[in-house]
Order: sequence, then C-alpha cells, then structure tokens
Amino acid sequence: MEQNSARPYDDDIARKFVAATVLWGVVGMLVGVIIALQLAWWPANLGLPWTTFGRLRPLHTNAVIFAFSANAVFAGIYYSLQRLLRTRMFNDTLSRFHFWGWQSIIVLAAVTLPLGLTSGKEYAELIWPVDLLIAVVWVAFAVNFFGTIAIRKVRHLYVAIWFYMSMVITITVLHVTNSLAVPVSFTKAYSIYPGITDGLVQWWYGHNAVGFLLTTPFLGMMYYFLPKAAERPVYSYRLSVIHFWALVFLYIWAGPHHLLYSALPDWAQTLGMVFSIILIAPSWGGMLNGLLTLRGAWDRLRTDAILKFFVVGITFYGMSTFEGPMMSIRAVNALSHYTDWTIGHVHSGALGWVGMVTFGMLYWMVPRLWDRPLYSPNAMITHFWLATIGIVLYVVAMWTAGITQGLMWRAIDESTGLLQYPNFMETVLRLMPFYWIRLLGGTMYLTGAVMMGWNFIKTANSPALVPATRS
Ligand code: HEM
Ligand code: HEM
Repeated sequence: MEQNSARPYDDDIARKFVAATVLWGVVGMLVGVIIALQLAWWPANLGLPWTTFGRLRPLHTNAVIFAFSANAVFAGIYYSLQRLLRTRMFNDTLSRFHFWGWQSIIVLAAVTLPLGLTSGKEYAELIWPVDLLIAVVWVAFAVNFFGTIAIRKVRHLYVAIWFYMSMVITITVLHVTNSLAVPVSFTKAYSIYPGITDGLVQWWYGHNAVGFLLTTPFLGMMYYFLPKAAERPVYSYRLSVIHFWALVFLYIWAGPHHLLYSALPDWAQTLGMVFSIILIAPSWGGMLNGLLTLRGAWDRLRTDAILKFFVVGITFYGMSTFEGPMMSIRAVNALSHYTDWTIGHVHSGALGWVGMVTFGMLYWMVPRLWDRPLYSPNAMITHFWLATIGIVLYVVAMWTAGITQGLMWRAIDESTGLLQYPNFMETVLRLMPFYWIRLLGGTMYLTGAVMMGWNFIKTANSPALVPATRS
C-alpha cells in the first residue's frame, strides 16, 4: 500500500470522484434537458433510433443516479470516512480500481443504452455482462470500506458511517438479487423470476435504490458535512441513531407502493402503504435534526451560500418524504400514478435533496481538497439561486401538469356517463405549457451546475495556496 507522508489521508481519490461527479452531473442533466425538450417539441427526437426519448430517458436516469449521485456519494465517503476513522483508506489500489471500474461502467452504459441494449427493468437497465462488472467493482469498494473500518484509529463509529454502511450492504443484496437472470446471448438475458414476482423484486430493488443510494448515504453526508459547515455539533446525536435504525428498518418494506392496483396480492400492497406512511416519522426526525443543527447559526444563512444549499436540500427532503407517503395511499395513488405528479415528486427529491446536498458538500470540499479558496464566491451564490428557482419551476409545473392530467383522465360527462376526454391527445396538448416551464427550470438548474464546474476548474488552476483551510 503506497503511503503519502505529506498527507495522512488519500485525498487524491476524493478529488477524482469530485471531478467525476461534476462531469457526469453536467452530462446527465444535459440529457435531462434534451428529453424535457423532446416532450415539449417532438422534432427534437431527430428521427434517429439512438436519440429517441425511449433510449435517452434511461440514459438520463442512469447518468444522474449512478454517475452523478453515486460519484458524489463516493467522493463524500472517501473524504469523510478517513477523517472520521483517523486512518488512510485500507488499500489505495482498491480505491483506484473502484474509481476506474465505476467510470468504465458509466461509459458502457452511455454506449449500450442509446443502442437500445437494455434489460427492461427500470433503474436496472444495464445488460448482464455490465451487471457482473458492477458486482465486482462494488465488492472491491465494500472490501476497502470495511477494511478501513477494521484498521480505524478510533473506537466509535460516528452515525454517518452507519448510514454509509447500510448503503454498502443493501445495494449489494439489491443488485445481486434483482439482476439474477439466465443469459441467452451476450446482450440478452431473462430474469429468473416469473410474472408478478419479477415485478415485486424489481420494485423492492427500485424503491430501495432510492432509499439506500439517494437517501441513506446523503443523510450520512448531511450528518458529517452540515455540522462542519455550520460549525455546530449535530442537534441530537441520540435522535440521529434512532433516525438511522427506524429508517433502515422501515424503508425495506415499502417497495409495493409502486405496485398499487396491480396483480400483487392486496395484503402486500397494504403492507407497502402502511410502512410508507410510518416512514414519515424517521424522515422528518432526520430533517428536523438537520435543520435544528443550525440553531444559533441561522443568521449565517444570509451570507453563507454553502448553508443555503444544505438548508434548501434538507427542506426538499422533508417535502418529498411527506409527499411520498401521501402518494402511497391508494386513493391518492389512483390520481397520481402514470401522471407527471410522480415526475414532480422524483425531481423534488432528486434536484432538491440529492442535488442541493451534493452542491453544498462539493463547495465545502473543493477548497479543502485543492488547498485554495473558491475562485468565485459570487458565482456560487448565482448557482444557488439558479438551482433554487429552477427546482421550483420544474416541480410546480409537474404538480400542476400531473393533477390536470389525472383529473382529465377520470372526468365523466354527467349527461352521457362517458369519459369527458376520451381523446388522449387532448390531455397531452393541455400539458404543453407546463412542459416548456419544466424545460426552463431544468435549463436554469443545468446552467448552475455548469457554472459550478467552471468555478472548480478555475479554483484548481489558481495559484494561491491556503493550507489553513484544510481540516
Ligand atoms: C437539469 C435537470 C433535469 C432535467 C431537465 C430532468 C428532466 C427529466 C425528464 C424530462 C424526465 C422524463 C419524464 C417523463 O418520462 O415524463 C426525467 C426523469 C427522471 N429523472 Fe430527471 N431531470 C433532471 C435532473 C435529474 C436529477 C439530478 C436526477 C437524480 C438525481 C433525476 C432523476 C430522474 C429520474 C429518477 C427519472 C425517472 C422518473 C420516473 O420514472 O418516474 N433527474 N428527468
Ligand atoms: C418517505 C419517503 C418516500 C416515500 C414513502 C415515497 C413514495 C413514493 C411513491 C408512492 C411513489 C409513486 C409510485 C407510483 O405511483 O408508481 C414514488 C415514486 C418515486 N419516488 Fe418516492 N417516496 C419517498 C421519498 C423519495 C425521495 C427522497 C426520492 C428521491 C431522492 C424519491 C424518488 C422516487 C422516484 C425516483 C420515484 C419514481 C419511481 C418510478 O420510476 O416509478 N422518493 N415514491
């Protein structure tokens, strides 16, 4: 294992993952903007099979979830784990293998998805050879992660590490179980599960991918980076531990809320609904623990853009974890399912929670990782406002579109007893203004992310060295 005597920690790996997060974030969001344009203006499909909505949509979801969000998680973990455990990573070669292996998987996804090579399972679209590679790279990361815990120099495992650990273990089980398939050629395999069992396993995976990739590691990062940025201890450590155990216990059962009114047995649907509603308690406990960490520091919100990113992120976490349980109630889901309301919910979690916490964390880490002050604090503030206004435009447009759509589909003509809008196109055309507003919001969000990338490149290339900012 190579050791760097000047730096006790391996910060090079954190820097690599930061760079990958920004690069893939911009690419993934750009594809999001392109598919948003396609929904508003169909000629943007370009009439080519590789650029149609059906192929670019999974490219967008894979890029933002597994390239942008996952790389952000890895950057946050490599930075904070070593500091929390006061030790360098267990094995630098495994760290490099993890980085390059993960980036190769992303490139393979970027090639196979536009070619139309897919398993057909949402958020698990990649074909079986790539699935195998994911398992190998993930296990290498897990060995390195647990190896670092084994060689730690402090006894206590801070709560952030528990949240990270839940991700490392659960994603392994989810990925392996959901990807079990019988290959019939190099690019095609059939799932080993039949019919509705396949649906249940898929949404157990899908929901917990949200839970254990887009939620628990980000909560771990909130518990590490927010107290650092606020210069305050976490509001209640006891609450954070209760938050952890309650969240991981409840999340794993909630998957069937994606299959309401399906062939899944009623009791399983009800189970999913009940666990989803109870999930409000730990989710809001965590949100309040985050926000109350700022007690006594609220005045700093006026000037500190990093805290602004965190506070908006945590607030959107609260909103989406209230909305999700509501949408899992059968009567509400009857209206929201298949509509843009779901897309609004997704992006209030994705742009609001995942995106804003990532931006706050990156702005906090970059000056410390590169030993330089941020090149342009003003550009960071502009990014914050572009992102915040962009999210509001996106989410409000989708809520309005979704409810309009849901109500139009179920509207009955009183006099004839027939559907009031039997022509599907009529509902689609009604949504067009909202699709343009979403495009505007998404473009603002993307512009902010590009500005952040420019700011980081300028920071890394600026000559001023300020070692005192390191902590
Ligand atoms: C510039 C920012 C973004 C734009 C313009 C955008 C746009 C879109 C569009 C147009 C769709 C397809 C909606 C449909 O099928 O009706 C979509 C789906 C999706 N996006 Fe984004 N997106 C952005 C950022 C993100 C980010 C950062 C994430 C995650 C961290 C994300 C996660 C998703 C997911 C999970 C779906 C699938 C939703 C579902 O199947 O219900 N997006 N996005
Ligand atoms: C207590 C927490 C949450 C609960 C109970 C919940 C519940 C739900 C429900 C009921 C749906 C609609 C299912 C359908 O009609 O098909 C849904 C969709 C979705 N939610 Fe959540 N949600 C929660 C938090 C979040 C967060 C924080 C995020 C993102 C970071 C998120 C991402 C998604 C995604 C990506 C989908 C779309 C899945 C698809 O492709 O159909 N959720 N959620």
